[in-house]
Amino acid sequence: MSTQSLYPVSPELAENSKINEDQYRKMYQESVVNPEGFWREHGQRISWFKPFTKIKKVSFDDHNLFINWFADGTLNATYNCVDRHLEARGDKTAIIWEGDDPSEQRTLTYRQLHIEVSKFANALRSQGVRKGDVVTIYMPMVPEAAIAMLSCARIGAVHSVIFGGFSPDSIASRINDGSSRVVITSDEAIRGGRTIPLKANIDLALQSPDVKTVEKVIVLNRTGGHIDFVEGRDVWWHELMAVSSEYCQAEEQNAEDPLFILYTSGSTGSPKGVLHTTGGYMVYASMTHEYVFDYREDEVYWCTADVGWITGHSYMVYGPLANGATVLMHEGVPNWPDISRMGEMIERHNVNILYTAPTLIRALMAQATEGYPNFDSSSLRIMGSVGEPINPEAWRWYYQEIGKEQCPIVDTWWQTETGGVLISPLPGATDLKPGSATRPFFGVQPALVDNMGNLIDGEGEGNLVILDSWPGQMRSVYGDHERFVLTYFKTFRGMYFTGDGARRDGDGYYWITGRVDDVINVSGHRLGTAEIESALVAHPDVAEAAVVGYPHDIKGQGIYAYVTLNADKEESEELRQALRQWVRSEIGALASPDLVQWAPGLPKTRSGKIMRRFLRKIAADEVSALGDASTLADPTVLDGLIDQRMNRG
Ligand code: WTA
Repeated sequence: MSTQSLYPVSPELAENSKINEDQYRKMYQESVVNPEGFWREHGQRISWFKPFTKIKKVSFDDHNLFINWFADGTLNATYNCVDRHLEARGDKTAIIWEGDDPSEQRTLTYRQLHIEVSKFANALRSQGVRKGDVVTIYMPMVPEAAIAMLSCARIGAVHSVIFGGFSPDSIASRINDGSSRVVITSDEAIRGGRTIPLKANIDLALQSPDVKTVEKVIVLNRTGGHIDFVEGRDVWWHELMAVSSEYCQAEEQNAEDPLFILYTSGSTGSPKGVLHTTGGYMVYASMTHEYVFDYREDEVYWCTADVGWITGHSYMVYGPLANGATVLMHEGVPNWPDISRMGEMIERHNVNILYTAPTLIRALMAQATEGYPNFDSSSLRIMGSVGEPINPEAWRWYYQEIGKEQCPIVDTWWQTETGGVLISPLPGATDLKPGSATRPFFGVQPALVDNMGNLIDGEGEGNLVILDSWPGQMRSVYGDHERFVLTYFKTFRGMYFTGDGARRDGDGYYWITGRVDDVINVSGHRLGTAEIESALVAHPDVAEAAVVGYPHDIKGQGIYAYVTLNADKEESEELRQALRQWVRSEIGALASPDLVQWAPGLPKTRSGKIMRRFLRKIAADEVSALGDASTLADPTVLDGLIDQRMNRG
């Protein structure tokens, strides 16, 4: 291997970090040989009301599936993120917030956070929210988003956060699935200088005749922009807070009581409500946050993810706050008004740990034609990447231009379903290879299998599975346990199937190759191609649609849609734009196709199944090696599609 492709652990980190190579090996070994003992010890990192005596009760058998961790313990997630820090860290900053407009700055100490959360938890109770209720949160990136989540957890309500980029239709189906009675939102969000009408989107969602459960909408005044206030249904956040008491006892939750639902896309059907429970999730989120980022007391930690995604849940709220960290939260985007924003923020807030996504790194890289603007990076120690494979070129750019060759990059592989990081370097233990997520975290047993489910030993490539449970694992699909079993445990029996492919090299390092199912990853956002197709065919002019991903310089993958129009409809540029707009309003801007190709016919087998591998190749402009087309009902459709392809190199 050339030296260029290996970045060894620095002597300083090997010496001073929480875990060095020897410790990693020892602890990893212990965690898989003696999981009971390992997790009995590490389960203590969380404060329990009633200590657990049971550790792990798990079966991955698809006929008899159960996953329980610390099941007889009781605790409260918010108590762990807030109350338990009051004594030693009451005046420590919990959240530093920077507005979209950098002149807006706020900080909240742990003591202030405690007051806000207690008051809002009481406010939720005053609106009829009870333990076990699902509360929908559709908020901008402001401290109140974290306060809303923690307040739900405080009273045992289950939050369901919806990313602010989703459309009213997407909101409606999520509210419905969770039968939410209360929705928390704000008048508007601000990102990159533009406002997003969150409250108006909620109003539209609630107009859907399908949504029958919502009784109250709590509205935060963020911008003061105009909203239609619905008397009797809508209530102002600040008016509730004005009359709320500062005392609210944290509800005693069982370890396996639900903490939250978060919807995510799969290869079929509508997005699934991924259900996470309390005890194991808190242990896992806090432990991974501490070790993966080598987090040290008094460090400033910045995660650029939105709270609407799992990264925002585990690594902006629950993990770091459980560890008593100071979290930097940014309302906007780190490349607005220009690319220097990110460096300025690192400098302004003395950021020690930065956690961001490859798509942002590639965007900065593309804009920084003369190198990244100079900034004082001396505070920065550790940098992370998440959400999609990071290409070595972007890795190196991040390492050189942002980290100034001083900071290891932890490329963290995980999923909404996994609750926390499963495969990642540890800064003081793992020599880095750009593009590899490297080795498993404690207690995680990844493996590769071929399409028949046979284990692949040593070096090789295959489907990535996990052989045994870890505490942060999702427990069910909300309201549809059968779907949970079917999606994750039936493809390869007795194993958790990730939906990703991976390669393992001679050093045992994992290289994630991307999804092997019909899920695409666009700017780190997970989308099911089937969802986008069903949005497209819902348009009156569309007869049929097939959607695939294609390589995109900034987004990682772009969305390529092949559309067959109804016979009496004319292809036109206007219609193309109208379809993109249509998907935007059906799902959200993130799902709008980058390229729409008219397809008079689609490559189908004789039984009518669309052969996507041809479509993927054409979309990727790899038309010289399409492969055997003899199983197609009409192989000639390929010629037309190739001729008209939109993405020529
Ligand atoms: C992909 C985000 C390569 C992967 C935390 C996974 C990655 C999906 C990485 C989950 C990484 C995430 N390297 N691929 N470091 N991290 N992925 O649920 O395909 O939004 O299955 O969770 O993102 O996306 P999700």
